[in-house]
Amino acid sequence: NEKKHSSEHDKEKGLRPNTEKGVGQFLTTNQGVRINDDQNTLKAGERGPSIMEDFHFREKITHFDHERIPERVVHARGAGAHGYFETYESMSKYTKAGFLKESSTKTPVFVRFSTVAGSKGSTDLARDVRGFAVKFYTQEGNFDLVGNNIPVFFIQDAVKFPDLIHSVKPEPHNGIPQAASAHDTFWDFISLMPESMHMIMWVMSDRAIPRSFSMMEGFGIHTFRFVNAEGKSHFVKFHWKPKHGVHSVTWDEAQKISGNDPDFLRRDLWESIEEGNYPEFELGVQIVNEEDEDKFDFDLLDATKLIPEELVPVKIIGKMVLNRNPLNFFAETEQVAFHPGHLVPGIDFSNDPLLQGRLFSYTDTQLIRLGGPNFHEIPINRPVSPVHNNQRDGHMRQTINSGQSSYHPNQTGGGCPFQAAMGDGGYAHYTEPVSGKKTKARSQSFHDHYSQARLFYDSQTEVEKKHLKKALIFELGKVGSKQIQERMIAQLQEVNVDLAEEVAEHIGVDTPVKLDKELNQSFPADGNPQDFQSGPA
Ligand code: HEM
Repeated sequence: NEKKHSSEHDKEKGLRPNTEKGVGQFLTTNQGVRINDDQNTLKAGERGPSIMEDFHFREKITHFDHERIPERVVHARGAGAHGYFETYESMSKYTKAGFLKESSTKTPVFVRFSTVAGSKGSTDLARDVRGFAVKFYTQEGNFDLVGNNIPVFFIQDAVKFPDLIHSVKPEPHNGIPQAASAHDTFWDFISLMPESMHMIMWVMSDRAIPRSFSMMEGFGIHTFRFVNAEGKSHFVKFHWKPKHGVHSVTWDEAQKISGNDPDFLRRDLWESIEEGNYPEFELGVQIVNEEDEDKFDFDLLDATKLIPEELVPVKIIGKMVLNRNPLNFFAETEQVAFHPGHLVPGIDFSNDPLLQGRLFSYTDTQLIRLGGPNFHEIPINRPVSPVHNNQRDGHMRQTINSGQSSYHPNQTGGGCPFQAAMGDGGYAHYTEPVSGKKTKARSQSFHDHYSQARLFYDSQTEVEKKHLKKALIFELGKVGSKQIQERMIAQLQEVNVDLAEEVAEHIGVDTPVKLDKELNQSFPADGNPQDFQSGPA
């Protein structure tokens, strides 16, 4: 069955039945009863106590009392936009994904840009990673590309994520500071986590203070797989390249803007769309043959490493245009639920241990953030393709499933959906051969924490290097503990001695600092659980 292609309006049409406009309408209760006095409660006499039977008052206050939901545990502050993705040329040689099959196919998208560490009300221009999450509403289901504006990550294994985030969030005893990085707990963790050094170079660079959401790159980071109709697989890394170019503000500008307009990036996105100056990004892919998996001096499953574009060029395959602001921030930007495990046929995972852990985390958190198992029914999360299954009931269920039964296989004719036959467009997981002992070990190249950090630092222009140095001096200068500062200088020495010495001089640390080699054993190389022991220095 040839699938019909998505139109950029498919999602807009899908949202329409759920939109409401109150202009010119009577004010009513939630039961549809017209209200004739919204300003005074019902009282026993003009000066008497309020009366419980004032159902309008009770309903209005109760709803207000419950109108907040938990903010995201990370990426709490974000801004969203609708748009479309247009494929430039068929990618069917590599993937059977329908939305990449033919040139000019348009797929509706919803994008949410975010900062990671700050709370929902924090400033846009904190020095931080930016989330870059895209939901493609394809005719074969939703595909989410949940990436960041930096191509690598702090840690190699998802089991460390709660520690990373606990270190960067405000300290638990006093709730300070809101700023992403300038504090002891973050730098304590980082100084004990050498695998983060490549990411730290990016985070201290101008990339972490973008001038506009439309002026940053986006990256899927992990290695994914493309799988074609013949079942052949290639590894793939995803890149978004902004048509407006990559631009940042300086740190001095960032601080002043944060004081003047904490909504700077959010406002810029909103206004540029209102004015018709639509943000555009091209989607690029780095494709690696399965047979070439071991040809690099790093592991494709290591999210702290990127594939240099000199080794595997980025092939541009389409563009995304953001041309419509959400109608309602809560309904769309706040309730949207992204998940790196939302895939369509033709795209599959790799065994990257960071990605594998993410596959568990997103639904788990959304179950509480969005109030139970039916959040896929919230309008912004609904696919444009039909949903039929035997999952039923639960809090806030909207769908009225008709018929006698809700199980499969089923011969009652009671209205149950049937399973797609092989080859009928169903999702088939890539049949990757897997063998080996259960182990916590990883390949040896996971231990190389500094080569790509050096590569990044060396690739910077003199001005960029100066900014990066100043950022480290600012951040590490605020750290209260001499031992943490020293451990950080020791890490920086491994990246670039001149950089380390200059930062050390400014923050009052004597160089050279001896690096505790133990720290480079932050995971067991031989499969034995002999993690380095952390404790008070
Ligand atoms: C949210 C990206 C690693 C757990 C997000 C969001 C982005 C993102 C962009 C915000 C989505 C939105 O706008 O709603 C990434 C990237 C990672 C990464 C690029 C590494 C390459 C992890 C890991 C975990 C994790 C390792 C946990 C094991 C979460 C959770 C949320 C989140 C719980 C909140 C989701 C929600 O409430 O809807 N991540 N993340 N992330 N991420 Fe990650």
